[in-house]
Amino acid sequence: MVNLSTTYLGLNLKNPIIVASSGLTENLKSLQEIEKNGAAAVVLKSIFEEEITNEYEAITAEAEQLGYHDEHMDYFDYQIREKNLLKYVELISNAKKELSIPVIASINCHSSHEWEYFAANCEKAGADAIELNIFISPSDISLNCELIQKRYFTIIEKILNKVTIPVSLKISPYFSDLGSMIFRLSKTGIKGMTLFNRFFSPDFDIYKMEVSSSFVFSHADEIAQSLRWVSLMSSRVDCDLAASTGIHSGEAIIKQILGGASAVQIASVLYQNGTEYISTMLSTLEKWMKEKSFDSIDSFKGKLSQTESSNAAVYERVQFMKYFSGKF
Ligand SMILES: Cc1cc2nc3c(=O)[nH]c(=O)nc-3n(C[C@H](O)[C@H](O)[C@H](O)COP(=O)(O)O)c2cc1C
Repeated sequence: MVNLSTTYLGLNLKNPIIVASSGLTENLKSLQEIEKNGAAAVVLKSIFEEEITNEYEAITAEAEQLGYHDEHMDYFDYQIREKNLLKYVELISNAKKELSIPVIASINCHSSHEWEYFAANCEKAGADAIELNIFISPSDISLNCELIQKRYFTIIEKILNKVTIPVSLKISPYFSDLGSMIFRLSKTGIKGMTLFNRFFSPDFDIYKMEVSSSFVFSHADEIAQSLRWVSLMSSRVDCDLAASTGIHSGEAIIKQILGGASAVQIASVLYQNGTEYISTMLSTLEKWMKEKSFDSIDSFKGKLSQTESSNAAVYERVQFMKYFSGKF
């Protein structure tokens, strides 16, 4: 009998599959399906301050035309924020009531006081942990690298001072000093990191001549980036790692655990195959563990991380020097 349980952020998970923050985790019905199909935890759809700001801007534009004054605008701002936050807090507390698996809240804010306010409310609603979905766009040409990076540390420090539940950080790979950033962020007191977020990308509809959305779901070969960085960093960081992006099969879960991940977060594969696919992925994992005589996740976790490897240099290789001669 193999034991699929693992720990992530100090939470006991019955297996390594966490359903990632997405439309799949934004309502109770879907969360119940996810639990029924075997997931070990869920990260709720993020609450975005930007969405609240957009709604506020639309309402204030209309209000301005109607001749409302500044104090009315402040009231609208407060109302919209509270309405959205209340909805989110309700989702957390309902999920906690109805599910037995851990429920991780996810927040994405702009202003530092909102990060703290949202996080405190998620804790109060009963979330088991909070994932900070931080991305500061490098498209803002007034911000240099130092300023962008400093914001990550400031946000984390403020939130860690505000809440007592475990906090994790979900980041993108878009840092020029990615290894150093992952290392330094892991030392802040966060309990885990999700490597990596995958973003919405715009595309062009050349017939309508307009911008459209595209590439919503990942492809299985997108696993390469997180696999490399999980394997490079897992033995160096001071927190757990969850792998995300391009994990589309049980084999992909095995790879990430071999690299040193404590858990994986999946979304696209479930959009494409339904949440029932969780059990297929778990069966593959279980079968492989039996074949290899591994009786627990810990017994093979990190076995192919860079520090365990006899070929450490290959993890840092980026050029295909001898690729076509059949060697890498
Ligand atoms: C439709 C959709 C909505 C998503 N919404 C969020 C979100 O609200 N917050 C977040 O942190 N990530 C969000 N993500 C990113 C996923 O959590 C995940 O990190 C990413 O899709 C990579 O995993 P995958 O390759 O298994 O899809 C979303 C992804 C998709 C496809």
